[in-house]
Amino acid sequence: MSDVWISDVRIMGREGHFDIGVQGGHIAEIVTAGTRTYSGQVIEGRGLLAMPPFVEPHIHLDSVLTAGQPRWNESGTLFEGIQRWSERKPYLTKEDVLARVDEALQWMMAQGTLHIRTHVDVTDPTLTALQALLELREKVRGVIDIQIVAFPQEGIYSYQNGRGLELLEEALRLGADVVGAIPHYEYTREYGVRSIDACFDLAEKYDRLVDVHCDEIDDEQSRFVEVVATRALERGMGQRVTASHTTAMGSYNDAYAYKLFGLLRKADIHFIANPLINTTLQGRFDSYPKRRGFTRVKELWQAGINVCLGHDDIMDPWYSFGTGSMLQVAHMAMHVGQMTGRQEAMACVDMVTDRSAKTLQIEDRYGIEVGKPASLLLVDADDKWDLLRRMPPAEIVMSHGMVVAQTEPVKRRVYWTSRDGAVGEGGYGVDFRVHTGSPVSASEPGA
Ligand code: FE2
Repeated sequence: MSDVWISDVRIMGREGHFDIGVQGGHIAEIVTAGTRTYSGQVIEGRGLLAMPPFVEPHIHLDSVLTAGQPRWNESGTLFEGIQRWSERKPYLTKEDVLARVDEALQWMMAQGTLHIRTHVDVTDPTLTALQALLELREKVRGVIDIQIVAFPQEGIYSYQNGRGLELLEEALRLGADVVGAIPHYEYTREYGVRSIDACFDLAEKYDRLVDVHCDEIDDEQSRFVEVVATRALERGMGQRVTASHTTAMGSYNDAYAYKLFGLLRKADIHFIANPLINTTLQGRFDSYPKRRGFTRVKELWQAGINVCLGHDDIMDPWYSFGTGSMLQVAHMAMHVGQMTGRQEAMACVDMVTDRSAKTLQIEDRYGIEVGKPASLLLVDADDKWDLLRRMPPAEIVMSHGMVVAQTEPVKRRVYWTSRDGAVGEGGYGVDFRVHTGSPVSASEPGA
């Protein structure tokens, strides 16, 4: 018995049209469309595509919407970004963080993101941003699912003579879900390796996941990903461990990369690339040829290793753009990673949905299946390819059976002189679909 029905939808990855019954915030039934009579609330699906919500696996919510405060990052570099952030940091208050994050979450929800892993800088003795986000995580629970990474932005051992470790552990005691590290930023390689060990020790002690900012630099000598993978393998923690950014992998020589991939397959860890930011912050010291600063997303995917995609930043000192659209993230990755083959492009959609959910270890409550939370999107798209190409809005965003965001579909008309000489409205409307068909049949090559 369902109290809400979503009628006549297609479901991503399945053939046919369905009605979805929702009860108590969960999916109670999925039946062939039109085969049941039902009462109660009905949401007309109109043949739209139902898909699970987007999953943002890597963002820094504590710094969102601070671009231009107090000054814009005019050079666009990582280093000017750090300078601008250090000028903004003294003005952080709990109210400031909560107000900015609240606004950014609305942008993200409007576009269908309902699961978020956020990093929070804990190299701050007051832990102001962490306290704010812990409070917010509880406030939005049941609508948006937030995981908090205790992230030592200025290093574990390099921050105030090792005080980063103390603050990192305090953040876990206060309730952070994931332990972070930033080995390539530590003063020495030795500090970097030790920081990874400390991170894994804390994860085991407090039973938390691991997500390391790893090798976010164009230096081909930065090889902390091999340390992260080895620790994960030796401690049997692979599925609980993520390496974020790994942009140096885009600069490794192929002989080393070949050896590394053997280890990565065995270690079974997750990867997150952030195409909008990686491509703008990296390569800044190159003249030409200029590197893309992007990790080997296509090769990781081809090797059967779980890889997904995130924003990193929305309108902050490191990236002054963005609206929180995960389709924009996937679209950029498809271009920069040269994943324009049909299967490759569709995999980019998986990298902001199913694959991100796997990284966050939330698969038990993610997906359009009976028994799982009724959290889904309705979009006007034919399939994953069409979704990525036209990037239509999420017309309905449902979380736990509640409609939490709606977008009216855009209607476009063109007025012009058409081929038959008539002046008037274009015949097809303009939705960027191809309506004219093709005289060439796939079964008759060359016809
Ligand atoms: Fe990051």
